[in-house]
Amino acid sequence: MRVLGIESSCDETSVAVVRDGRHVESLVIASQTEIHARYHGVVPEVASRAHVEQIGPVLAAALQVESDEPVVAVAVTSRPGLSGSLAVGVAAARAFAWARSIPLVDVDHMLAHAYAVQLERSVAWPYVVLLVSGGHTLLAIARGPTELEVLGTTIDDACGEAFDKVSVSLGLGYPGGPRIEAIAKEGDADAYRFPQSPMGVGGRAYDVSYSGLKTAVIHQRDRFRRAAAPGPHDHADIAASFQRAALEPLIARVRAAVHYHAVPRVTIGGGVAANETLRALLRADAAAHGYELFAPRRELCLDNGAMVAGLGHALLTAGYRSPESLGVQARVARFRAPK
Ligand code: KG4
Ligand code: ZN
Repeated sequence: MRVLGIESSCDETSVAVVRDGRHVESLVIASQTEIHARYHGVVPEVASRAHVEQIGPVLAAALQVESDEPVVAVAVTSRPGLSGSLAVGVAAARAFAWARSIPLVDVDHMLAHAYAVQLERSVAWPYVVLLVSGGHTLLAIARGPTELEVLGTTIDDACGEAFDKVSVSLGLGYPGGPRIEAIAKEGDADAYRFPQSPMGVGGRAYDVSYSGLKTAVIHQRDRFRRAAAPGPHDHADIAASFQRAALEPLIARVRAAVHYHAVPRVTIGGGVAANETLRALLRADAAAHGYELFAPRRELCLDNGAMVAGLGHALLTAGYRSPESLGVQARVARFRAPK
């Protein structure tokens, strides 16, 4: 059963064809990172316009894969995300489904990220999911394809957003994650003790906060600017120390979730999940504390149409169909963890 998946919730336009919810036959991702770089972040209006331009070519490229079997359904991300961006994908999906007289299935972006690992290998539910990107920071337990129990979120900046802001403040530019990661390799992560988000911040055990860390890093940078002769490794040391302070609280929360919920399987997603230090820290933690880590390849960690098609297949086989009046939803209330 071949399902088309369309994803346009933020700044990636992506379309994929996935067979039986597992086998990725085609996956095309058009990133807008370069378009947004000069604004140091994603500009919603610019993003929707770029989606309008990209959706046709990306859809055509994804459909080039040869097969005797037709596409039998369309899945699309309808929430959460930027309204204008979501609307482009939903409009395209509705038109495609209508033109071919095939069913349409709307999916939740976070559930799709949680599903992504299933496209590489079959992982038994439940599993702990850590989703970290420029727009989201979420720790949850996936209890099934459509069931995500939220344990914690960020109370201020998203994790990737902190990487982006620190990078811009150090003059390294946007997107920050890959630049911080690269320069951090030359630095000493022990050089500074930046504040780490304690467990229980904001009154919820698994919530995380990045604003204090971001401010501390910017103060350190200001101290250097006032100093007569900052050393050559100063920025690298700040980047390495920041990276550690940003990532270690995530590892601590994953370990706590595995332990207290007795769920010894973990998967990750989002742009920050591409970070090699995060992956290495998690691998070491998994080995030390006896849980399994399933880290999908980078492409499947990013926003992509394949995870949408995969989850869409699960919904479709469960009998779900989108309403005729399908719209978009920028926010999803249940992604606040209960106190
Ligand atoms: O998932 P994504 O492409 O888009 C959304 O935000 O939805 O994630 C982009 C975010 C940016 O904040 C970027 O700085 C961060 O992921 N990122 C990284 C790395 N690569 C991308 N953060 C840390 N290390 C990386 N290697
Ligand atoms: Zn995402």
